[in-house]
Amino acid sequence: MKKAQRKTKKLRSKEKQKKKPSVCSYAPRTQASETTPICSGTQLYIPMFTCWIVGFVAAVIFCRYFGQSCKDQPIYYLDQPTYKNCTPTPTNTTAPEPEKPILLVWEWPETIDFKFDPIECKNRFNIDSCHLTDDRSLYNQSDAVLLPHKSIKKDLSNLPKDPRPRFQKWIWFNLESPTNTRQKAGLENIFNLTLTYRRDSDISVRYDVDVSKTPHENFVIPKKDKLVCWFVSNMDPGTGTGTRMKFYEELSKYIKVNVYVNMSGSRLKDEDYYPTMESCKFYLSFENSIHKDYITEKLNGPFAAGTVPIVLGPPRENYEQFAPGDAFIHGDDFPNTSAMTEHILKLDKDDEAYRKYFDWRKYMSVIPHYKVWNEEFILPICRACDYIARHKDYRETHELFKWFFS
Ligand SMILES: *[C@@H]1O[C@H](CO)[C@@H](O)[C@H](O)[C@H]1NC(C)=O
Ligand SMILES: *[C@@H]1O[C@H](CO)[C@@H](O)[C@H](O)[C@H]1NC(C)=O
Ligand SMILES: *[C@@H]1O[C@H](CO)[C@@H](O)[C@H](O)[C@H]1NC(C)=O
Ligand SMILES: *[C@@H]1O[C@H](CO)[C@@H](O)[C@H](O)[C@H]1NC(C)=O
Ligand SMILES: *[C@@H]1O[C@H](CO)[C@@H](O)[C@H](O)[C@H]1NC(C)=O
Repeated sequence: MKKAQRKTKKLRSKEKQKKKPSVCSYAPRTQASETTPICSGTQLYIPMFTCWIVGFVAAVIFCRYFGQSCKDQPIYYLDQPTYKNCTPTPTNTTAPEPEKPILLVWEWPETIDFKFDPIECKNRFNIDSCHLTDDRSLYNQSDAVLLPHKSIKKDLSNLPKDPRPRFQKWIWFNLESPTNTRQKAGLENIFNLTLTYRRDSDISVRYDVDVSKTPHENFVIPKKDKLVCWFVSNMDPGTGTGTRMKFYEELSKYIKVNVYVNMSGSRLKDEDYYPTMESCKFYLSFENSIHKDYITEKLNGPFAAGTVPIVLGPPRENYEQFAPGDAFIHGDDFPNTSAMTEHILKLDKDDEAYRKYFDWRKYMSVIPHYKVWNEEFILPICRACDYIARHKDYRETHELFKWFFS
C-alpha cells in the first residue's frame, strides 16, 4: 500500500515537474482569491510544504538538464508567459555602447546662417559624446534643449509646447553682456542650465589661454609695420559702445590708431583678420560694454595673432583670471590716457621691453577663436553637448535675471 502510494506520488511529482511552478504559484493563488480560504492553520502547511519540496526538486532537475539555454526547450514554457522572457546566458560579454545623450537645438541662435554640421564638434574639438540635432520630432527623447535667448519671442510663443520629459534639461544660451540682453518675462524659473560667458555659469564658454604641454621656447614675434590697430564694426552707441569711443578719441589725440571700420556691420574680411592683426604692435581690445567676465574674442584675437592687447573692459584683476598679467596693457595701470600713450611710445622704441609682453608664451598656448562670422556659436554649442554627456544631475535655475544682471 505504502509503496504504491509512494509510486503514485513519484509519478505525480514527475507530472508536476513538467508543469512545475504553476502548481505552486498559479493554482493556489487564483483559488484563494476567488473563494474564501480553502484551508487554514496546520492544514495549509502540508500541501505548502509538499509543494515547496516538489518545486525545489523540479528546479534542480530543470537547472541540470535545461538550464543552459531557454531557447533549447521552448515547449516547457508555452503555458507560462512569465518564463518566456527568460534570456539565454550571454556568450558575448562586450557591453553595448551606451546611447549618446541628445542635445536638441530648438532654434539656431540669431539666424539659420549659424546652423552647422554636428560633425564639426568632433572635427574641431574632438567632442563626440553627444548627439546634436535640430530635429524637433526628437523632443520627447532629448536630454537637453538649447534655447538661445535672442531667439525666444517676447511672448514666449516659440518655446516647446509639449510637456517637458522629467529627465530633460533646458539650457539658457546667451553670449551677450547684460547691456545687450533684453529681459523677457516668464524665463526666470524655467531653465536648468546656463550657457554664457560668465565663469559662474553652469557651462562657461571661453577661448582658452592654457598652460601648454610643450613649452614654446622660441616664440617668434610676427613682423610689425603698424603701431596701434583697431577693428571695429559696431559703432551703435545703443549697444554700450560710448565708453570705448570716448577712450579711442582720447587715445588718438596722442597716437596714430589704424582703424579698420566696416560700417556694413561685419568684421574685417575673414581672411584678412589674423594677417592684419599680427602686423600691429598693439591692438585695442575694447569690449562693447563693461561687465565682470565679459572678455571676448577681442582679447583672444591679438593673443592668437601675436600682438599685445590694450584692453578696455572689467578691472585688471578680472582679466588676470583669464590671461597672464604681463600679457596685456590695462587702463588701470596708468593715471590717465596721456601716461598710457607715453608708455606705448616708449615700448615702440624699446624692443627689449616690448618683448617682455611675450614671455608668457613660453609656457602657455592660445586656442584661436573662429574667423568666419557664422562660426561663432560652434564652440559653445559643442561644449553644451559635451557637458550634458558628463553631467546627469538634477538642476534648476531660479531668478535667472537677478543673477545675470548682478
Ligand atoms: C559581440 O557583440 C559585438 C556588438 O554587438 C559584436 O561587434 C562582436 O562581434 C560580438 N563578439 C562576439 C565574439 O560575438
Ligand atoms: C511628446 O509626447 C507627448 C505625450 O506625452 C505627445 O503628445 C507629443 O506629440 C510628443 N511630441 C513629439 C514631438 O513627439
Ligand atoms: C565689409 O562687410 C561687407 C559685408 O558685410 C563685406 O562684403 C566686405 O568685404 C567688408 N569689408 C571689409 C574691408 O572687410
Ligand atoms: C597724467 O598723469 C601724469 C602722472 O601722474 C601727470 O604727470 C600728467 O600731468 C597727467 N596728464 C594729464 C593730461 O592729466
Ligand atoms: C528643470 O527645471 C524645471 C524648472 O525649474 C524643473 O521643473 C525640472 O524638474 C528640472 N529638470 C531637471 C531634469 O533638472
